[in-house]
Amino acid sequence: MKYTEEIAKRRTFAIISHPDAGKTTLTEKLLLFGGAIQIAGAVKSNKIKKSATSDFMEIERQRGISVATSVMSFEYNQCLINILDTPGHKDFAEDTYRTLTAVDSVILVVDCVKGVEQQTERLMEVCRMRHTPVIIFINKLDRDGKDPFDLLDELETKLSIHTRPLSWPINMGTHFKGVYNLFNQTLRLFVPGLQTTTEEEAISISGLNDQTIDQEVGAADASRLRADVELIESIYEPFNMELYRDAYLAPVFFGSAINNFGVKELLDTFIEIAPPPQPRPTVTRTVKPEEDLFSGFVFKIHANLDPKHRDRIAFMRICSGKFERNKFYHHVRSDKDIRFSNPTSFMAQKKNVIDDAFPGDVVGLYDSGTFKIGDTLTEGENLQFTGIPSFSPEIFRELINEDPMKFKQLEKGIQQLTEEGVAQLFTQPVGNKKIVGTVGDLQFEVLQYRLMHEYKAACSFRHLDLYKAFWVTSDNPKKLAEFLQRKANYIGYDKDNNPVFLAQTAWILDTAKRDYPEVEFHTTSEFAAAVREN
Ligand code: G4P
Repeated sequence: MKYTEEIAKRRTFAIISHPDAGKTTLTEKLLLFGGAIQIAGAVKSNKIKKSATSDFMEIERQRGISVATSVMSFEYNQCLINILDTPGHKDFAEDTYRTLTAVDSVILVVDCVKGVEQQTERLMEVCRMRHTPVIIFINKLDRDGKDPFDLLDELETKLSIHTRPLSWPINMGTHFKGVYNLFNQTLRLFVPGLQTTTEEEAISISGLNDQTIDQEVGAADASRLRADVELIESIYEPFNMELYRDAYLAPVFFGSAINNFGVKELLDTFIEIAPPPQPRPTVTRTVKPEEDLFSGFVFKIHANLDPKHRDRIAFMRICSGKFERNKFYHHVRSDKDIRFSNPTSFMAQKKNVIDDAFPGDVVGLYDSGTFKIGDTLTEGENLQFTGIPSFSPEIFRELINEDPMKFKQLEKGIQQLTEEGVAQLFTQPVGNKKIVGTVGDLQFEVLQYRLMHEYKAACSFRHLDLYKAFWVTSDNPKKLAEFLQRKANYIGYDKDNNPVFLAQTAWILDTAKRDYPEVEFHTTSEFAAAVREN
């Protein structure tokens, strides 16, 4: 129990949203509060612009920037905050899913005009699966959006989570006057265009019946607010922090990120209620952050930009103990001891070599091909952290080698790039086919471009009409072998040599399930843990 103070002050989280809801803007405002950046617009450059969907140079540029913004750390009110950046573009959703394995909580941004969008639902599924506590920030209150009660209903039904408003808006759009804080009963008035680091001071009031509210927002809005709050108090249970930390209840805030309105409120509540670094499950036991011995896992790998060097940066989340520079650590998968002379942290958007780091921190490790996503480092114990799954991809194409002389380069390239998480590779013994699965079209362009530029390997992709990939297991090895043989044309093997059923249609999947009731079909690679839990 050596590092309790260091652990208690850390908050490691991600901001997630459907593209354009305001994630980048909110991130930037939070960084401004922490003094981590001086100018607005610094984070913005990390976004892949809508027009850039087929612009490789843009992707390359982004890769460079996104190393710097992968983790953004700053101090605020004695807390050390680590924001893990997630790509906004939907084609990079799997990157986001993996980053969510390294956080202790999330802030979900929802656009009040659009409500819950598709990407929001999918991201929430991942949070639910991992029991990640969620705070919801409903953004863009300066626009005419949906009724706040309707928004809360929509959040509950579409995201399958209970909500509890902690602030309440007084009107929206051009009539937006501010928010009433239900948590500490203060009133905050909206001043459009106030893009500073300090929000206007909240007005303290003695309670809802305080006449100050009428003076500030007018009698009609004041009485509507009173009616709304009465309704809220009668429908919703009082906020319960345990339920939030159990990922059962999401507190909801309203504001406008671009106007820096409601952001400080969100941040202040966040550091009060969001969990510090949490214990993490491994195959053998749960690792507590306070343990003396160091452990951590790699959740993201980033290739360096210079094609002459195959250096990569592996991002490691520290789970327990203290990480030290130049100390030997055990790389569990390869059973080797390695030390790191230049581990980096990401304070204030600058990469700094660090001497030590604590649970909740993310450290960048220079790597020349040792790491795979999900790898564990320890002080000797054979731990394997769970919950870093691959997710079933949605688009499948066969990799075609366009230059027979460069077969080896292509093999190596596709191997390394899929280890980096750009896409998933399934190898089919029948015909030695290589099937690449992704969540978006953009990855194929990235792969093709990077294979050519970094490995000098020309390739193309042949479209495959597949529905989804399912990892298959069974308690009955005979039945599984029979299934794998019968479906051999539609079985591929993932990077760890696990069999995957590549179903052509939902109907074929259903038939397979009916014909082979003893075979289990999993949409993530994390079936081992799931099997153990059942
Ligand atoms: P994202 O990272 O979730 O994709 O969203 P981002 O922050 O980039 O915001 C998307 C757009 O929404 C941006 O406008 C941004 O300025 C705007 N926005 C963010 N917060 C608010 C808000 O509170 N109110 C209003 N009205 N707009 C907001 P854009 O035109 O796409 O980009 P830009 O030209 O402003 O950079």
